Amino acid sequence: MARIRRAVFPAAGLGTRFLPATKAQAKEMLPLVDKPILQYAVEEAVASGLESLVIVTSRGKGAIEDHFDVSWELEKNLEERGKPELLRAVRAVSDLARIAYIRQGEALGLGHAVLTARDLVGGEPFAVLLGDDVIIMDAGDPPCTRQLMDIHERHGAAVVAVMEVPEEETGRYGIVRARPLGEEGVFEVEDMVEKPAPGQAPSRLAIIGRYILPPSIFPALEETGRGSGGEIQLTDGLRHLLGRERVLACRFRGRRLDAGDKLGFLQATVELALRHGELGSAFGAWLRSLDLEGY
Ligand code: UTP
Repeated sequence: MARIRRAVFPAAGLGTRFLPATKAQAKEMLPLVDKPILQYAVEEAVASGLESLVIVTSRGKGAIEDHFDVSWELEKNLEERGKPELLRAVRAVSDLARIAYIRQGEALGLGHAVLTARDLVGGEPFAVLLGDDVIIMDAGDPPCTRQLMDIHERHGAAVVAVMEVPEEETGRYGIVRARPLGEEGVFEVEDMVEKPAPGQAPSRLAIIGRYILPPSIFPALEETGRGSGGEIQLTDGLRHLLGRERVLACRFRGRRLDAGDKLGFLQATVELALRHGELGSAFGAWLRSLDLEGY
């Protein structure tokens, strides 16, 4: 069974739900407490044992490359000013992993972004992580991507991460029709429906932004062509794959925070601030002191 070594981070979207904040800066670089959104997913990949990372960027997103690169001037400055903790924090980011970048010339959809990484991924199965989804774990649980990798290693199939959503929210997600496989939290996917109206969804298991994909996803995406909004959708590519290969779903342990729109971003900020080692208790005390009557 091929061990997964590579991860792709599509980060070339336009981030329209954050406008005007994302007019001239990448959504992926907006800070959640003290780290850019994308860093959470990169850290999850590294903690899962992935070694070779590919970030798909686009015009105007150069700050992503700078962030994960060494910053000699800054390091020298912090060293001279005797700030060892900040220096460690800055170095830790550039020491995280080997990262390659590729540009998606036009924002033609998530599936197209994955297709853009084809040459850098090669002929091996790989992970895809969407930075918008930040996944928090209970102590002792493996990272979400690691949970998917373990299932892939046991079954050799594509794996998508799913979570149970309330009936009224099915219209915001890709929903799977799936049957339990007899292993805790693992399902055999039979079909996928993009954004079904409540009442028409085949289940309440929604696909979120973590995937293990075989290299055969690339021809599947090519065959898929442009779907809704002129974009190549990853879900459509996965449905093509489903006709020929097994796709499993993993109802992962952990909780997903959706930092991809303004409300979700604010909620994720509050959660992560409360869990933050240095800031959590002071932030919690301030939150409790707020008089929310009238809002
Ligand atoms: P989203 O659907 O969140 O799109 O993409 P977006 O452009 O980032 O944001 P909105 O909807 O306009 O506000 C999910 C992920 O896929 C990437 C995004 O960067 C995000 O990580 N993506 C999307 C690409 O890399 N390329 C694309 O063409 C579209």
